Amino acid sequence: MKILFFGAKSYDEKYFKECLKQEKYGGIEVNFIEPDLTPNTAVLANGYDAVCAFVNMDLSDQTIRTLNECGVKLILMRCAGYNNVDLGEAEKYGIRVAHVPSYSPESVAEHAMALVLTACRRTHKAYIKVRENNYSLVGLMGVSLHGRTAGIVGTGRIGAAMARICHGFGMKVIAYDMYPNKSLDFVTYVDLDTLLAESDLISLHCPLTEESYHMINIDTINKMKDGVILVNTSRGGLIKTMDLVQGIRENKFFAVGLDVYEEENGQVYEDKSDEILQHSTVARLLSFPNVMVTSHQGFFTEEALQAISETTLENALAFVRGEIGPNELTGK
Ligand code: NAI
Repeated sequence: MKILFFGAKSYDEKYFKECLKQEKYGGIEVNFIEPDLTPNTAVLANGYDAVCAFVNMDLSDQTIRTLNECGVKLILMRCAGYNNVDLGEAEKYGIRVAHVPSYSPESVAEHAMALVLTACRRTHKAYIKVRENNYSLVGLMGVSLHGRTAGIVGTGRIGAAMARICHGFGMKVIAYDMYPNKSLDFVTYVDLDTLLAESDLISLHCPLTEESYHMINIDTINKMKDGVILVNTSRGGLIKTMDLVQGIRENKFFAVGLDVYEEENGQVYEDKSDEILQHSTVARLLSFPNVMVTSHQGFFTEEALQAISETTLENALAFVRGEIGPNELTGK
């Protein structure tokens, strides 16, 4: 089986090549290329059985049609999210799609807590100040999490891990989810309005759906406590950015930590340090001292990359064996 690996970074190659050393993957041949998979680059897959793509790529109908013309039979998403894949179009051409539903949820939750701690203890500012020989504490006043209330929106794999971390910090943990997670016996489930009103920290861990799109907007922001900490490691579309900017300007938030944001596509995972920033809302967010932004790196740990490589290659093997694997999104 020949797989063309789009948008390959050095770390992708490292972990996949390591994994490919296992005998069971002997029949798999992989080529790594730099371009992302888009309608324009899909033609590069000519002669390959499968392509491997990521969360930031464009697998809309045009891409799928070109992949079909190239003879591609399988799309391997090396990520959990697949809202960028036109599954209907893939189904139409009999192209199978598999993903990696879970890989180290703790990695993402730990990054969420890293954002909380950084933003609420101002370590991003302290780091720069001390490097410049400035040992003043002015502007670095923080808040302690112990005894405060954490509100977790979505208690699936990552939200549950975040709930456990917050519990470990001595926080009271409340949550909102249509399907309460019975393993979290220390969590009190409440409705969204109650969570907004009672939480000192709100951490978003639900998927982006029609229902959750812009769930954080000026109306829901107004329902939050003054001085709340808001963290989003899920998907940018959960927060209406302009409303967030308004809320920050009105001093609603003690701190905001964002690993994802609405305008991340086109710049996420790329070094743009020599270019003029085109997105005005991102520029505005970056201008606030109590906002911490990272570039969709919640997943980015050794443990997660090992798990992603292993599961992606297992998905390929299942296809080779003619099986419909548990991680397939089509063909069921
Ligand atoms: P999951 O499927 O295990 O859990 C999602 C939970 O959200 C479920 O319990 C579901 O009932 C709940 N939910 C769905 N709609 C909701 C709504 N409108 N309000 C409240 N709860 C709702 O998903 P998992 O693995 O925990 O991932 C969560 C999200 O994290 C993913 O959808 C993805 O967007 C994001 N993610 C971010 C990464 C990063 O690098 N920053 C890496 C991996 C995932």
